[in-house]
Amino acid sequence: MKDKIDQLKGLKDKIAKGGGEDKIKKQHESGKHTARERIAMLMDEGTFVEVDTFVSTRATNFGMQDKKIAGDGVVTGYGTVNGRLVYVYSQDFTVLGGSLGQQHAAKITKIQEMGIKMGAPIVGINDSGGARIQEGVDSLAGYGDIFYNNTAASGVVPQISVIMGPSAGGAVYSPAITDFIFMVENTGRMFITGPEVIKSVTGEEVTQEELGGAATHNTVSGVAHFMDPTEEECIERVKELLSYLPSNNLQKAPTMDLGDNANRIEERLNEIVPDNANKPYDVKEIINILADNGEFFEVQENYAKNIVIGYMRLNGETVGVIANQPKFLAGCLDINASDKAGRFVRTCDAYNIPLLTLVDVPGFLPGTEQEYGGIIRHGAKLLYAYSEATVPKVTVIMRKAYGGAYIAMCSKHLKADMVYSWPNAEIAVMGPDGAANIIFRKDIKEAKDPIKEKSSKAEEYREKVANPYVAAERGYIDDVIVPSSTRQRLISVFNMLDSKRETRPAKKHGNLPV
Ligand code: HXC
Repeated sequence: MKDKIDQLKGLKDKIAKGGGEDKIKKQHESGKHTARERIAMLMDEGTFVEVDTFVSTRATNFGMQDKKIAGDGVVTGYGTVNGRLVYVYSQDFTVLGGSLGQQHAAKITKIQEMGIKMGAPIVGINDSGGARIQEGVDSLAGYGDIFYNNTAASGVVPQISVIMGPSAGGAVYSPAITDFIFMVENTGRMFITGPEVIKSVTGEEVTQEELGGAATHNTVSGVAHFMDPTEEECIERVKELLSYLPSNNLQKAPTMDLGDNANRIEERLNEIVPDNANKPYDVKEIINILADNGEFFEVQENYAKNIVIGYMRLNGETVGVIANQPKFLAGCLDINASDKAGRFVRTCDAYNIPLLTLVDVPGFLPGTEQEYGGIIRHGAKLLYAYSEATVPKVTVIMRKAYGGAYIAMCSKHLKADMVYSWPNAEIAVMGPDGAANIIFRKDIKEAKDPIKEKSSKAEEYREKVANPYVAAERGYIDDVIVPSSTRQRLISVFNMLDSKRETRPAKKHGNLPV
């Protein structure tokens, strides 16, 4: 027996070295950790249990029988992150460039299926040359199986993709189906076709980093949600995100008492929003004041900055926040903001996370670029997402709420459970200036001093319509509150809504305007 045990230990030691010392050295020299080092960073110490350690390729073409290495280029298993069960797969670039063959894919799909059955998050660490060329259609089949399982797991268990190396070709679609994508700067890269193919087809010259680096996908394309300069910082952020999420769609997110005072009155909130409706301010200051201990975990911080999304805790409970940001584009809703917020609302709803919407929105962004780009169908996603969401929905109108954007930002009409407004709110079909120009056009034109007349008519409109009391009289706003009391009020109302149950007519699924 001892011989056999020694043999087993020897085998496992060898497998743990992946593609061997030289390849590991190369991996380190290129600023990357190995698949196992990354898992060790993620999991609580000593909790990782490997699955399918001995699985290896069955391929024999192109000399594959001589290249086969147990593990087949991906390390898979489970363990705990801050004490909670998490499944993981981590591609091993030291083995055939982390390329994905049939057995490699089967290891990933096994882990996905375990995650779904056991109701625990799945973290996929991607570092791969893509479809294993020697395995041909078997590799493609493997990807298809992974995409299918990604879709099956979607809305059942949180899925997190971490891009720490290449992720090219159709391989990008597994991360794209998951809930969140993290990328490491200068090493994480995602593209459908690389620079060389692009050059030969379109003549464009672009570097890998410009094409599909972390900055590109976090600022321009909106494909990714987070970027970090190092793998260590990236993994820390993954762990932090997990702390805000439940393990599956049948659970609530864990409560974390940060010791903050639930009855904290914040006089600063009475001053933050400028009286002048055209003056910008930073909505993140408001979010930080409202959040337990001022901790706000922002998602997609660098994309569509005119809307802010992320998680905070109120009295220890996770809440998803969606807030217009007057600092950018005056907080208008545009195509990218609608996509960003709509997706986030659906993510929160899927995982039982209540929604807090902070409104200061002058409307949808006008212009041909927006119309031709399909703002109609993109904006519709936000309306759809809010209407569809059955988690507790609370809205605070802090200043402007105009037109379609008033409706879209989780108004009473989309079945917000509770809508509050601050006393300075302006709720109307459009801003007073625009409204005066249309309904008093004749008076203004004929006046001796048209500018003065326009300003007085705008003021008249503001007094009559653009205040919170008209909407409050109709019950579209449940209460007008003093800003300083907002945190206290939110904690109390989310507590009241904790047992909310809402069912809708049975259907196969809705038809989201994608
Ligand atoms: C088999 C691969 C491989 C692949 C890399 N390797 N990609 N083996 N299939 N797809 C191997 C290399 O031969 C090499 O083996 C080792 O991995 C390391 O690769 P290097 O090229 O030395 O590393 P590096 O210089 O860092 O370049 C990494 C790379 C490059 C940019 C990823 O290897 C590359 O361009 N690979 C091909 C990428 C690609 O076109 N993939 C197919 C995409 S299409 P040795 O033995 O020399 O160490 C696709 C379709 C999916 O994925 C469709 C899903 C629906």
